[in-house]
Amino acid sequence: MSTKTVPTTPTPTQGEMYLVSAGIGDADNLTLKALKTIQSADLILAMPFVEKQLAEHFPEGVEILDAGHGLFTSLARSGVDSSEIEKRETHVRHRVRQAVSEGLCVVVVEFGDPTLFGPQVGYLGEFHDLNPVIIPGISSFNAANALLAQPLLHSSSQRLMMTTAGGIKDYTGIPPDVLVLFTMRLNVEELCSNLLKLYTSDTPLVLVLSAGFNKHERVIHLTLESFREQGEELEIPWACLIYVGAIDVDR
Ligand SMILES: C[S@@+](CC[C@H](N)C(=O)[O-])C[C@H]1O[C@@H](n2cnc3c(N)ncnc32)[C@H](O)[C@@H]1O
Repeated sequence: MSTKTVPTTPTPTQGEMYLVSAGIGDADNLTLKALKTIQSADLILAMPFVEKQLAEHFPEGVEILDAGHGLFTSLARSGVDSSEIEKRETHVRHRVRQAVSEGLCVVVVEFGDPTLFGPQVGYLGEFHDLNPVIIPGISSFNAANALLAQPLLHSSSQRLMMTTAGGIKDYTGIPPDVLVLFTMRLNVEELCSNLLKLYTSDTPLVLVLSAGFNKHERVIHLTLESFREQGEELEIPWACLIYVGAIDVDR
């Protein structure tokens, strides 16, 4: 009996997709795992400032696309022409899917922790079927904690809560021992009046600015009262986390 070899069509190798954290602040806050993943990329998507900061680590000749800000979420659509956003999304969708179907490695690079208000988090939902893998990295929260240099959670009964400055507006629960606030769209007066419903006016309030940028990072110790008085004058930059509650001011 003769045996016949049936020619098989090679199975196309599916590529891979990663959402890689560049860390926060200086470029050397990148983890080794993030670096290795970036160096294996065939297509990189990054915001222009992230690209500029990490360009020396990108593989030579790699294709780079602007990752946009909030693509595939409502964030990208706030106050702009949504047809422009749709055009960009269509282009990104097409290019990413084509690259993965060709067996290539697609890397979306994001600053901070992508799962904490990350502008690239929409890629996870849009490309869910491609099983994107997150390579974690340093968040502004980690970098700011390092600057505070004190235990924030050190007994099992302590509570730490994170939200945005606007996120505590309707909060009526037990005030957490430490409240950490991302400051997007900060309104100092409104924030103070909401905080004063939860904490006394002498409660420590700390601003951590530009965490992770060695040359610029700064910590400003205030109380809720002095923040109410001086907050507007401080011209708080975008890169600021606010800590309220059981923070040791003598550190
Ligand atoms: C869109 S969120 C992105 C957060 C990011 N995914 C992370 O993990 O840090 C931006 C907010 O993060 C905080 N932030 C970002 N970079 C910071 C930095 N270097 N220092 C302090 N806060 C920062 C600020 O509250 C800012 O308004």
